Amino acid sequence: MTWSPYAATDDEAVIGLLPPDFRLGAATSAFQIEGAAAEDGRTPSIWDTFCRVPGAVADGDTGDVACDHYHRMPEDVALLAALGLDSYRFSVSWSRVQPGGRGPANPAGLAFYDRLVDELLDRGVTPWLTLYHWDLPQELQDAGGWPTRDTAFRFADYAELVHARLGDRVTHWTTLNEPFCSAVLGHVEGVHAPGGRSLADGVRAVHHLHLAHGLAVQRLRAAARRPLDLAVTHLLGTSGPATDSAADREAARRADAFGFRFYLDPILRGRYPRDLIEDLAAHRIEIPVRAGDLEVIAAPIDTLGVNYYRSMRSSGVDEHGSAAGARGLPVTRALPHGGLPVTGLGWEVMPHDLTDLLLRVARDYPGTPMIVTENGAAYDDQPDADGFVDDAARTAYLSAHLAAVSRARTAGADVRGYFVWSLLDNFEWAYGYAGRFGIVRVDRGTQSRTPKRSALWLRDTARRVRRRSVDRGARTGTDADTGTVRRRRRP
Ligand code: FCB
Repeated sequence: MTWSPYAATDDEAVIGLLPPDFRLGAATSAFQIEGAAAEDGRTPSIWDTFCRVPGAVADGDTGDVACDHYHRMPEDVALLAALGLDSYRFSVSWSRVQPGGRGPANPAGLAFYDRLVDELLDRGVTPWLTLYHWDLPQELQDAGGWPTRDTAFRFADYAELVHARLGDRVTHWTTLNEPFCSAVLGHVEGVHAPGGRSLADGVRAVHHLHLAHGLAVQRLRAAARRPLDLAVTHLLGTSGPATDSAADREAARRADAFGFRFYLDPILRGRYPRDLIEDLAAHRIEIPVRAGDLEVIAAPIDTLGVNYYRSMRSSGVDEHGSAAGARGLPVTRALPHGGLPVTGLGWEVMPHDLTDLLLRVARDYPGTPMIVTENGAAYDDQPDADGFVDDAARTAYLSAHLAAVSRARTAGADVRGYFVWSLLDNFEWAYGYAGRFGIVRVDRGTQSRTPKRSALWLRDTARRVRRRSVDRGARTGTDADTGTVRRRRRP
């Protein structure tokens, strides 16, 4: 199979250019894999609630059991290690470690992550911890959620509480996963929890998520007794114009302001884009910035996490050819490119766009190292009699995208690692369990795990990349920080 404009055979050669210390890992998130929704003191998150809204999630699926990772964690960590992955990106469930989202820690909840971190370090896998992957405690939603400023301060307290327990062993901390999805899919488009449909709420949510990030960065830096690697992860893509018309070019500018610069500018430049402020003013919406907020939000980070799946084209006309939509405001419509291969969810496969994206970030926001914290594809897997999935399409997808990262590096982007989404087939939000992104198949009936061909490809790729270090006499696969951070002795 070939992916325009690069051929797969070239991809393998380009991947071979990655340096031996390039981070290769897999990612998951708490709500998508843990299950044990009501165990050991965990309280509901907005996703537990949303799953119960009729029609919100395909097939009425919930996260109640998910991949039962809460009970199978050692087995899953062993799997990661067997695949030779040096890093594991996971998230902490806020309502598991601080039920209700405020007040004291829940020792049983924290103990789970304590065991997970020790298990990873024991096996030479670096923990890459995300504090928030969309599962806000329901009580905080009831108090107003992300459109409310106080939620940012609750998040900072929670970040400190997790750090107090794990900060002696976890070096890599990501505050938030994809604020765009929390804010826009959750508050404007209504397709993610909490299911709101208000642009004004979405804009407030973005600002308070940024504030939450900045406050947490400050608190963690102040609390840490050793250097931490602090990051935030954003979902990024490009949004070029559908045609060269003035309306489409203007739509592409608006899409770029609202979907891209709204997220990177405050954090990496300490300001909101001027054109975005004007676009929002046309909707009579203001970003609720208070004095001092932008200094907090722009607290220096060490790494920018980039999640990439696909990009869309921007059109400035609606389906009837009109440039003014409802309420007389200009139209911005996201369209597929057309003529490209698509994944099982219909998402267009565009690896070359990942190269462009990474180069753009490197050019427009110089000086911040990047990690691709998510990239992967859902396909309609067909297991054989042994449960093995020969997922040639997913393997080609991953190979093409890893090569795209390598190309961006060669062209000057400082990209230091790549995490596959996802380790396991899991709860894919509104798609439920139908969206299978795993490199390891999870049988929904038995919960048995079977690495797919893509997992074996990743294992071999990791070996190949590391082998270069042996050839050159440099350090081998074990990550420096797993080597120096000692696990805590359990009584
Ligand atoms: C990302 C999410 C992740 C997963 C992938 C497919 O936006 O961060 O949890 O759902 O999409």
